[in-house]
Amino acid sequence: SRVVSLAVIPGDGIGPEVVTEAEKVLDAAVAGTEVTVEKTRFSLGAGRFLETGDTLTDEDLAAIKGHDAILLGAVGGVPGDPRLKGANIERGLLLKLRFELDHYVNLRPSVLYPSVPGPLADAGAVDFVVVREGTEGPYVGNGGALRRGTPHEVATEVSVNTAFGVERVVRHAFDLAEKRSKKLTWVHKTNVLVHAGSIWQRVVAAVAAEHPDVAVDYLHVDAATIFLVTNPSRFDVIVTDNLFGDILTDLAGAITGGIGLAASGNINPDGAFPSMFEPVHGSAPDIAGQQKADPTAAILSVALLLDHLGLAEEASRVTRAVEADIAARTGAARTTSEIGDAIAARLQA
Ligand code: NAD
Ligand code: IPM
Ligand code: MN
Repeated sequence: SRVVSLAVIPGDGIGPEVVTEAEKVLDAAVAGTEVTVEKTRFSLGAGRFLETGDTLTDEDLAAIKGHDAILLGAVGGVPGDPRLKGANIERGLLLKLRFELDHYVNLRPSVLYPSVPGPLADAGAVDFVVVREGTEGPYVGNGGALRRGTPHEVATEVSVNTAFGVERVVRHAFDLAEKRSKKLTWVHKTNVLVHAGSIWQRVVAAVAAEHPDVAVDYLHVDAATIFLVTNPSRFDVIVTDNLFGDILTDLAGAITGGIGLAASGNINPDGAFPSMFEPVHGSAPDIAGQQKADPTAAILSVALLLDHLGLAEEASRVTRAVEADIAARTGAARTTSEIGDAIAARLQA
């Protein structure tokens, strides 16, 4: 038998609603197997901040580090809530976890399932994965402000790119391409961001030389958004910088039937720290508390989690249950928990 320790961070808004369903499906996936999941819940997010003033305490961070994996719903309050002024939940909690746990691979698969109504008239077969760099780029928080509030205010957000950081994520993407269709597109903005672009260009060229069977293609990020809409089936593995990957993956979610289906894993491939699985979407304050959220993205994140833990059979059972549920969707409205129940029931059957 095998015990998996899981830190669960339901978070804010629809986070707790979708995590409840993800846990339901996880429990159903391991029921009757050798695997037992031991969960610890962490109350973190805007709600916790409003109650206690804490964003992420050292104690919570240390406790989270002691787990095998993390399941997160979504964090963040209503944008503009004056009570959250200075809280910075996104940076102080979500990005802090990604950085402290060295989640340098942010894995974001996109599949257009048959029968899913997408916005594209003739999308073709869409099945690609974005490998988004997770610990560098403009997200590092290397910036500052001068003369705040004056007409001469200056703000900087400096993108930090290291040869080490670029190489490890690019290597991971090539390894993934070897296991998939041997096709890799790297996306940047080398025509403008020449310094970072140069590191990416040289690293990709060097790693590509070790993978002569992988077809390599480059797109500027603006052009990548065109092709994601006009010809998404041209993509298989996309590797890109942290900010470009953030933007491309919301677009990828939109073209594959909506953000309610888009799953992700923040991976520490070395296994030194627990990896963290979460839907691509946020806390959706506009629909929170109404059982309107689609929990499928959170449930597919559980499949990524199981796969990461080496439980490939359980992972593919979850994916198949989701595929069957999606195929059976009629367009009639279902509550968040009805969708979770239906997917869990397919696993029990
Ligand atoms: P969002 O993803 O929360 O919502 C964007 C739109 O998508 C909204 O209309 C929402 O109703 C819809 N949506 C999102 N998830 C859905 C689901 N599962 N089913 C159906 N519809 C869904 O993005 P936002 O509005 O920009 O951000 C809201 C808050 O969430 C902010 O505080 C933001 O910082 C935070 N955020 C957190 C994460 C995270 O925790 N990983 C990710 C993105 C945004
Ligand atoms: C995401 C989110 C986060 C990001 C925010 C909330 C910090 O948009 O997970 O895509 O930009 O990475
Ligand atoms: Mn995002």
